[in-house]
Amino acid sequence: MTLDMMSTGGAGTPSPAWTKPVIETRSLAKTFAISGSEFVALQGVDLAIERGEFISFVGPSGCGKSTLLNMVAGLMPATSGEALVNGVAVREPSREVGFMFQTPVLLPWRTVEQNVLMPGEVFGRKDNALRDKARAVIEAVGLGGFVNAYPRQLSGGMQQRVALARVLTYEPSVLLMDEPFGALDEFTREAMNLELMRITRQAGITVLFVTHNITEAVFMSDRVVVMTPRPGKVSGIVPVDLPRPREIETMQLPRFTEILFEVRHILGGSRGAH
Ligand SMILES: Nc1ncnc2c1ncn2[C@@H]1O[C@H](COP(=O)(O)OP(=O)(O)O)[C@@H](O)[C@H]1O
Ligand SMILES: [Mg+2]
Repeated sequence: MTLDMMSTGGAGTPSPAWTKPVIETRSLAKTFAISGSEFVALQGVDLAIERGEFISFVGPSGCGKSTLLNMVAGLMPATSGEALVNGVAVREPSREVGFMFQTPVLLPWRTVEQNVLMPGEVFGRKDNALRDKARAVIEAVGLGGFVNAYPRQLSGGMQQRVALARVLTYEPSVLLMDEPFGALDEFTREAMNLELMRITRQAGITVLFVTHNITEAVFMSDRVVVMTPRPGKVSGIVPVDLPRPREIETMQLPRFTEILFEVRHILGGSRGAH
């Protein structure tokens, strides 16, 4: 089995027959009670995301990016409004939706392959087809020579590749990523970004990607959702009309810089941006 079998056709291009968004949020909001007073972490968020879109969320720390992602993932209940995945209101985590955190969370006593197969064991799946799939995905993320290695033998970037292989093996139609490469060095992050784009587009996966790195957001996305804090809300959505496939050279295009500045402008000035 190869990664191509994950493809749902059209290399991520939304099919004309598909009109319903994969992900929708309707007045999605979250309020936390902090020492007796209410704190609005996220104010009514309305989004409609099409199949195969790569959407980034940028904004300063505390603007509610993680809160938003956690509610879409079903890891945290909304205070009001709702999130829908494939038209169904989210109540709990779903197998259709993969989640990747900033740290890889690998079990140190298990090999790369055993770590990738672990969720399958939790679901009660332990078959040859899944193992073949896992091997193909491990290969695709560039760890073909490391199936039997242990996490301690791998660099931080390689460990994050294992986490990526683990989530992709279960063929999510949606991938939620909360600053997944934030702890990696610039070179490793760039390589991971390119591979993530290639793999998710080939498989037609819809990606919601949280980052505080504006350059990374514009480079990868079809649209960048710009958020501001206190209260956390969407202050603008910037479409990224750069050609695909994106290469490092894409960042040299004048249009790239224009879009970057548009995002910065919505964020409220150019200070502190990458
Ligand atoms: N469980 C919680 N209890 C209270 N406040 C929280 C909780 N989770 C997040 N917050 C607050 O909500 C706001 C948004 O947090 P978060 O979604 O983590 O922001 P971001 O990911 O954009 O940095 C922050 O001010 C944070 O302190
Ligand atoms: Mg966060």
